[in-house]
Amino acid sequence: MRTSIGLNSNALSRYPHIPSVYIYFSFIAWGAYFYISNRYILNICYAYSPAIENPRRYFQHGTTLTPKCLIPLLSLSHQPNAKRSGPVAPGVAFITGGARGLGNAVAVSFAKEGARAVVLVDIQDAATFEAGKKECLAIHADVTKEDEMEKAVAEAVAKFGRIDYAANFAGVTGRAGLVSDMSLDEYQKTMAVNSSGVIISTKWELRQMMKQSSIDVEEGRVPQSGSIVNCASVNSVQANVGSAAYTASKHAVVGITKVASLEGRNHNIRVNAISPGFLYTKMIDEALKRHGDLGEAHWKTYEARQGRQAAFSEIGDAAVLLSTPRMSLVNGHNLVIDNGFTINESNT
Ligand SMILES: NC(=O)c1ccc[n+]([C@@H]2O[C@H](COP(=O)([O-])OP(=O)(O)OC[C@H]3O[C@@H](n4cnc5c(N)ncnc54)[C@H](O)[C@@H]3O)[C@@H](O)[C@H]2O)c1
Ligand SMILES: *[C@@H]1O[C@H](CO)[C@@H](O)[C@H](O)[C@H]1NC(C)=O
Ligand SMILES: *[C@@H]1O[C@H](CO)[C@@H](O)[C@H](O)[C@H]1NC(C)=O
Repeated sequence: MRTSIGLNSNALSRYPHIPSVYIYFSFIAWGAYFYISNRYILNICYAYSPAIENPRRYFQHGTTLTPKCLIPLLSLSHQPNAKRSGPVAPGVAFITGGARGLGNAVAVSFAKEGARAVVLVDIQDAATFEAGKKECLAIHADVTKEDEMEKAVAEAVAKFGRIDYAANFAGVTGRAGLVSDMSLDEYQKTMAVNSSGVIISTKWELRQMMKQSSIDVEEGRVPQSGSIVNCASVNSVQANVGSAAYTASKHAVVGITKVASLEGRNHNIRVNAISPGFLYTKMIDEALKRHGDLGEAHWKTYEARQGRQAAFSEIGDAAVLLSTPRMSLVNGHNLVIDNGFTINESNT
């Protein structure tokens, strides 16, 4: 008996007459062929992607992978467990704040990972969505208004039958200010979107998920009737001067997430939060402009502590991976995605 990397001993012992060097060579050759043809097919697939297409907006930060077209390819290769082949996220995704920024990146990642439908919920006007493909539904709704969110969920379900993955990314910038001279009005406005918006969205998403059956999961795993990912921030675990409203709202998002995860688990629903580090979105751009050069300088120091600039797709992909049933035991978690920003205590 012999073993080697990537081959089990039974497979080798079936061919005692073949010197092992040939076997190794043929595997390298096969690997190279598969890699090259894979890249080639991927590029063709990208050009004719059946996923939601909006090349300019959706793929501006992206790679060229569009996995829907990979399904037949992957099913040809040997898969010991069928549920590990095929798309990562084949269900229906529902994203608040999905018209731009990080929410939009989450939508793109879902589309790339094979989502059957992607629903964007936002207060942007119709033109901003630039939607138009049948797999992508754009709904105008304000996350701070219960009736609008109830309707948004109902509309998505009327069209696609269910919501498998929800991601709550709607956000506004609020004005910063020291606690000692904070305006209650600004505070409440931030809390309304950043925290009430999340609990309202979670409420209506949960109600739908509690009614539906599980998506396909690997044998031996618990069912998954739904997954919700709430967007928090590194300010959910730390604070900075002048950020009371923002920091309070993001701590609240994690609190809501923890409670909802305990309430959801009896219904096979997982609820998690992700806490992005520093990404130069439109929201940030608007906020920094209010502070002029000082804002810009501050941003540079944040990025230095983060080690580098971050791409929107790095948040999008994390939200999608957190939503798959392979993460079945991850519930009530706050995943910090900041390249080590929060753990970097260096000042140099
Ligand atoms: N950019 C960062 O560095 C960063 C860091 C940590 C956390 N976040 C969080 O990420 C989330 C997304 O922010 P972004 O940076 O992508 O901002 P963004 O402004 O680019 O996108 C936010 C989207 O939410 C929508 N929105 C705002 N209010 C809404 C409402 N009431 N109802 C429905 N939609 C609404 C906006 O129209 C916009 O499309 C926010 O929760 C934000 O706090 C961002
Ligand atoms: C919450 O409000 C703060 C401003 O106080 C803003 O910077 C942040 O991006 C907002 N996030 C949301 C609405 O999720
Ligand atoms: C840690 O943050 C500092 C800025 O606060 C930065 O200069 C340094 O490069 C960061 N460390 C690493 C390892 O990225």
